[in-house]
Amino acid sequence: MENNSEKQINGEEGTEQQEQKTAEDIVDPWNVQASSNKGIDYDKLIDRFGSSRIDDTLLERFEKLTGQKPHHFLRRGIFFSHRDMHRILNLIEAGKKFFLYTGRGPSSEAMHLGHLIPFLLTKWLQDAFDVPLIIQLTDDEKYLWKDLKLEQCNKLAYENVKDIIAVGFDMNKTFIFSDIDFLGGEFYKNILRVQKHVTFNQVKGIFGFDESSNIGKIMFPAIQAVPSFSSSFPFIFGEKKDIPCLIPCAIDQDPYFRMTRDVAPRIGFQKPALIHSTFFPALQGASSKMSSSDENSSIFLTDTANQIKKKINKYAFSGGKDTLEEHRELGGDCEIDVSYMYLKFFMEDDSRLEEIRQQYSSGKMLTGELKAELIKILQKLIAEHQERRKVVTDDTVKQYMTPRALNFTIQK
Ligand code: TRP
Repeated sequence: MENNSEKQINGEEGTEQQEQKTAEDIVDPWNVQASSNKGIDYDKLIDRFGSSRIDDTLLERFEKLTGQKPHHFLRRGIFFSHRDMHRILNLIEAGKKFFLYTGRGPSSEAMHLGHLIPFLLTKWLQDAFDVPLIIQLTDDEKYLWKDLKLEQCNKLAYENVKDIIAVGFDMNKTFIFSDIDFLGGEFYKNILRVQKHVTFNQVKGIFGFDESSNIGKIMFPAIQAVPSFSSSFPFIFGEKKDIPCLIPCAIDQDPYFRMTRDVAPRIGFQKPALIHSTFFPALQGASSKMSSSDENSSIFLTDTANQIKKKINKYAFSGGKDTLEEHRELGGDCEIDVSYMYLKFFMEDDSRLEEIRQQYSSGKMLTGELKAELIKILQKLIAEHQERRKVVTDDTVKQYMTPRALNFTIQK
């Protein structure tokens, strides 16, 4: 999921338009633009979008219900916002089940670390709650929005699927599909239901479409909406048409699901619950652009150990001081240090992370030493991912992508 890839995470460039919008960050499925060079103001975003903060009460409930510490993405505020998560936890408490839904827009062959974030939390949720999972590949979306050939988008979907499968989703509980290949049947019927109940004015307001937007874009939000409804997948859910859905995604996808939640009760369906992540920062800093086309702006899942080392050492924006003496005296700034931010995403050991934070901010630890810790972790993570991806054959892909019954019990 998203999928922070082609998002523009830009700092203040001072164009006229931006000056008029001084305090407003732009966050929608196609643009992410911070109004200050500190990056996106996530607290403001929660207020603007009307979602809820993931707070200690919610974390405690997670811990109680799973019997384990919540995933470090939750504990560290990487997933920071939600809609209706308490409703899902109430169900679990009552011994009932839900299903997970997430997705990816395949617009590039190589996925990077940022693309992994929602999938990693989804994997944790699937394991912790033992629930079925639907993964949508919006190859149609990428065709409508990008300058790419239709066949190319479809091919990229099947490439990306291998990386997604390599995250380790349970084959018996996971269905993955490409929109281009799957659309039809009950799924399409639900698309029509959504389309009939959402007007052009509404999608204009939510997504900023105008009269010159191609008509594929105008109807596309219905396609991303309907995997939220269990009745779209009769081969999985049978007669159960109202199984609740939980969607892990990056916060930029929220407009799709605000629309979905608005239309759902009007067509007799449940609103999906959501859990939102922050964006994964580019190597150059939280306010600069990370893009799949700039190979130096991120770490790709295809990078070699040596490339990882070089990129981190050369490009990862440092919060360290200019000279050794200054650094020893004043210490580094973890708030702006990209290597430290990446450690927050990928170093699982809380106490080691805290130790690093203290030593780096006090000047005891140097940028090179901080980077060395990160390089070690990322080299291992990516090498292991590559090992798992290597054994994903075309046949494995076919199995995950065949419409079929999944193995789960909805009510204990
Ligand atoms: N639109 C998303 C993207 O461009 C893909 C997507 C489809 C998705 N369904 C989703 C992402 C559900 C998160 C959750 O990457």
